[in-house]
Amino acid sequence: MNLRDFWYVAAQSSDLRPGALLSRVLLGQHIVLFREAAGAAVALADRCIHRNAPLSLGRVENGLLRCGYHGWTYNGEGRVVEIPSLGDPEKIGNRCATRYDVREQEGYVYVRLASSSEQLEPFAMPKHGVAGYRHVRLVHPFRNTVTNCVENFVDVPHTAYVHPITFRAPRRRPIDAQVVRENGSVTVAYENEVHRGAFRWFLSPNGHKVRHTDRFLMPNVTSVEYDFGPSRHFFITSQSVPVNEGETIVYTDVTFNYGIWNAVARPLVARRARRIIGEDVEILRAQREVIEREGEQFTHSPIDVVHLFIESIRHDLESGRDPRRLPREARSVAFVI
Ligand code: FES
Repeated sequence: MNLRDFWYVAAQSSDLRPGALLSRVLLGQHIVLFREAAGAAVALADRCIHRNAPLSLGRVENGLLRCGYHGWTYNGEGRVVEIPSLGDPEKIGNRCATRYDVREQEGYVYVRLASSSEQLEPFAMPKHGVAGYRHVRLVHPFRNTVTNCVENFVDVPHTAYVHPITFRAPRRRPIDAQVVRENGSVTVAYENEVHRGAFRWFLSPNGHKVRHTDRFLMPNVTSVEYDFGPSRHFFITSQSVPVNEGETIVYTDVTFNYGIWNAVARPLVARRARRIIGEDVEILRAQREVIEREGEQFTHSPIDVVHLFIESIRHDLESGRDPRRLPREARSVAFVI
């Protein structure tokens, strides 16, 4: 098992319009996306097999991709179906560009670089399309690695310092958590968290206990769930897509059920999420600058077990090992937030 075996978001379905060409980089591999005439999404290596011009500089004609240099034309299987200067189609032979597996699900176009024998599926976004739930979808480039991004997204202590106005002010109150690593995932269940923020009157009007659970799922998904009771439930789910070492595109869905407030909540949710993510973009950019300048020299405290579990899984994947073979470990952690 390695990182190329997994499905990664390459685009939002709405961005891949008929006739459009999208250029993407995934794990250092340049790919081009387009739609066949019937609408199915296609991913090819972004390199014409003739003289290696980028196919993303070509154009789509009736669901076929024509290279912008000499006009070689490819179908959805990656097969060359026309060489204009050759004339006779019989002479084309069996020439193919590299084609990658594509899935389209829940408004995302997923691409997998390796044809894995593993039965791995794209991540199913929580509550997507479920009655009563709405979602806001955001895309942000991060100047950092996938590992540091996913650690940030399930890192509660940083929220009091990076997001003191937008999310949580430091109050130095104890919060207990159970942290479990198993089967390529890390789950953090917070046990006695109390919401005291500015939106307490809205999120917890009946004084329901907060159920807060953070999850990391290999190789790149984090999901933060807050459940305040009936009609006060939301998820922040992020898929951190590796572009190159140090560059990550993060697709974030904020999925919420605020009952009768759903319709008016959307612009407020989007604005707040953009501000919070923007703050994370900045701190992760600054962290990356230091690491690039001086190397990674982390020091851990006992509450950093969430980071260490994630790093153990990511390290196994980067080394070509299956993290599902790591032993199950469970720890009790006492945070002060
Ligand atoms: Fe693409 Fe020649 S390089 S047709």
